[in-house]
Amino acid sequence: MPESFFILSKDHLELAKDEIIALAKTYDRFAKSKSFSNLVIIQSKINWEKIAQRATFVKISGQVLRKMSGLFLGEENFEVLKNAKTFACRIINLSSKQFDIPGLEGSMGDMISSLSQAKVNLKNPNIIIYLIFTNQENFFGFSKPDEISKRPKKVRKHPHELDWKLARVMINLIGLKEGETVCDPFCGTATTLLEAESMGIKGIGLDFDEKMYEISKENLKVNGFKSKIIKGDFSKFATMEDKFDGIVTDLPYGTASKSSQDPQELIKKFVSMLPRRKKIAIMCKKGFEKKLNMNPSKTYDIYRHKSLTRTILIK
Ligand SMILES: C[S@@+](CC[C@H](N)C(=O)[O-])C[C@H]1O[C@@H](n2cnc3c(N)ncnc32)[C@H](O)[C@@H]1O
Repeated sequence: MPESFFILSKDHLELAKDEIIALAKTYDRFAKSKSFSNLVIIQSKINWEKIAQRATFVKISGQVLRKMSGLFLGEENFEVLKNAKTFACRIINLSSKQFDIPGLEGSMGDMISSLSQAKVNLKNPNIIIYLIFTNQENFFGFSKPDEISKRPKKVRKHPHELDWKLARVMINLIGLKEGETVCDPFCGTATTLLEAESMGIKGIGLDFDEKMYEISKENLKVNGFKSKIIKGDFSKFATMEDKFDGIVTDLPYGTASKSSQDPQELIKKFVSMLPRRKKIAIMCKKGFEKKLNMNPSKTYDIYRHKSLTRTILIK
């Protein structure tokens, strides 16, 4: 079974790792994973590019060609360069050993040049060859330079809006696929819907505030997106359960964002109405979740500043 590697940014490492694993399992329920520091190795029939396109916190990704015990590579390891005109070598050292990385990269480049037709090009290579060292295992793999993926535009913002990375990771953690529909019953400026639609997932958003409704519509329109926005109370989602596959939302905190009623009462009502069989990711102010009878399968705390830590609940 092919293996792929993902080097993650360390900002929200637990979220980042779980996102990769959730995405792999979304497309291949038999996918297996292991991790070393900020490296995740996925064993699955899914191509790494499919996961990397959706994932939020990936810095480098590629396909593992083989595991290595030493530094011995032969001609057969460079098959991948058969059709490449140019390449670059990169060493990623996640082990506690010290290496002369520029020196190693240089000698690997010389060795590959002598075994293949491809020439070194550090600026714009067709293929990048990776050697990844960890304290447990070493991996030899390759990647292609990232295509710069287009981010959805947001022409109108608001102080209470959710960081797009957190919206995206929540959608990915609950395993929604292209063609499925997400509902955000407190959609604000449409962050969830913009991220969802940029990944081919349809959206339905609700917000009781006229201003938010207008902002959401504008943000979707400028991207040519077709998610549906309804001006109204969140409770309307309960009448539309057959129209969506999952809920991703960021609840009102009663500070920067308006709330139609006491946020704690509103959240209790919302949770009591949640459908049983849908995929659900909810963000709320840390502490609120204790008052809810939600039994999440996983929670993540996200520190923002000294008076705000948020919690993501996955069900
Ligand atoms: C924390 S904000 C959501 C922010 C949003 N995720 C974004 O990125 O812009 C909560 C939203 O809930 C809306 N809201 C408050 N009470 C509501 C209710 N009863 N029904 C629907 N929306 C409500 C507010 O207008 C606000 O836009």
